[in-house]
Amino acid sequence: MAANKRGGRPAKAGGNRDNRKSGTGRSGPRREEVRSGGSDRAGRKPGARPSEQSSARREFTPGRIVKQSDRSAAKPSKKESTGKQGRAEEPKELFVLPPRPKGPVPKRAPFQLMVTKPWDHYALLDMGHGKKLERYGPYVLVRPEPQAMGSPCLDAQVWEQADAVFSGDLEEEGPGRWKYRTALGETWQTHWDDLSFYGRFTAFRHVGFFPEQAAHWAWMEKSLKNAYLGRPPRVLNLFGYSGVASLVAARAGAEVTHVDASKKAVAYGKENQILAGLEGKPIRWIVDDAMKFVQREIRRGNVYDGILLDPPKFGRGPKGEVWQLFEMLPQMLDACRQILSPQARFFTLTAYAMRASYAAFDELMLEVMTGQGGVVETGELMIAEEDGDRRLATSIFTRWRPFKKDEASGIEAENAGEESQNV
Ligand SMILES: C[S@@+](CC[C@H](N)C(=O)[O-])C[C@H]1O[C@@H](n2cnc3c(N)ncnc32)[C@H](O)[C@@H]1O
Repeated sequence: MAANKRGGRPAKAGGNRDNRKSGTGRSGPRREEVRSGGSDRAGRKPGARPSEQSSARREFTPGRIVKQSDRSAAKPSKKESTGKQGRAEEPKELFVLPPRPKGPVPKRAPFQLMVTKPWDHYALLDMGHGKKLERYGPYVLVRPEPQAMGSPCLDAQVWEQADAVFSGDLEEEGPGRWKYRTALGETWQTHWDDLSFYGRFTAFRHVGFFPEQAAHWAWMEKSLKNAYLGRPPRVLNLFGYSGVASLVAARAGAEVTHVDASKKAVAYGKENQILAGLEGKPIRWIVDDAMKFVQREIRRGNVYDGILLDPPKFGRGPKGEVWQLFEMLPQMLDACRQILSPQARFFTLTAYAMRASYAAFDELMLEVMTGQGGVVETGELMIAEEDGDRRLATSIFTRWRPFKKDEASGIEAENAGEESQNV
């Protein structure tokens, strides 16, 4: 298969990419209007101001917002075009990814299942009938789990002995309430590896951290420790919640920027930093809208060696800014790509919104990262039951990383020559 030297993805990987590259069949700007960003990863210093960056970088046209009415095929539905009072609403504006810059196409890695095994402070004990039974440190909890579609294995008695049961909205971010067998405090001290943080009973069925993320924490920690950049890696944790990933990154030697819209979540993060004994580590805690923050970082010319994002399906920024995953994800990923440093080690998205398939996320990340080479790995995060062979699927992830030094031999010939810029 010949490499597509015009910056698009090879036919095998992406199908009919040619019309995208030429600007036909897309509402984005035509390729002739867009200067190549192919060299935008070369020679740009981390943290450099825009004026110090390569001209190719500055000239790369970001995606544009296209009014839905511009797109002949996408007529608004009746529901969309009339408000509650029958008044016409503004047509929705959709983000259209710009044509990809020239450069190597990421290799598509095989689908991966990243399974979190139990540790002394966490175990998935049983699941079934839409619920899961978990041990969190000193407590056994029952929480709704739409993906636990089988039957429980343990006796009903074991479930009845649980210390707390959450009931409420089945939506991931939906409210509900905890019912306790005996009075419990709001928080408990827990840890992963030797990193301490708080577990907590929240009104949204969460418990202050997401155990399946442990697979990402371990992977990220290794990646940061092996980064050898000659300076601390810079990590951006968007939609960072209570900050466990931020702590893991800081412990691994990174300078961390943690962004979340919720003052409460950021306060949890700061409390966790103190409990972990990492007060001296450089973590910037920022209450902001994730999209606005990234757009500001583009303008300021700040770049990161690793980006994590774990956005909800729907959310709001501190000033009411709306976040809609299915409408805004392409724009967000494309904006994040623009603040990846030339030495970037990872760019990881996790999504609990299961409306999309893993393949849809894989396609999007490949499209966004075309021009950067490297590898796109996509799969699901799972939790292994403590006793038994079953595993609970929790979320989809997709992540980009550069090639590893010893990886070239396994790469198709046409990519092998191009990868060195990322090594
Ligand atoms: C699913 S949680 C993230 C979980 C976290 N990554 C972890 O593993 O612990 C989603 C977070 O997104 C935040 N959020 C929602 N809308 C936001 C927005 N527009 N900008 C920034 N953060 C937002 C919420 O406050 C919440 O803390």
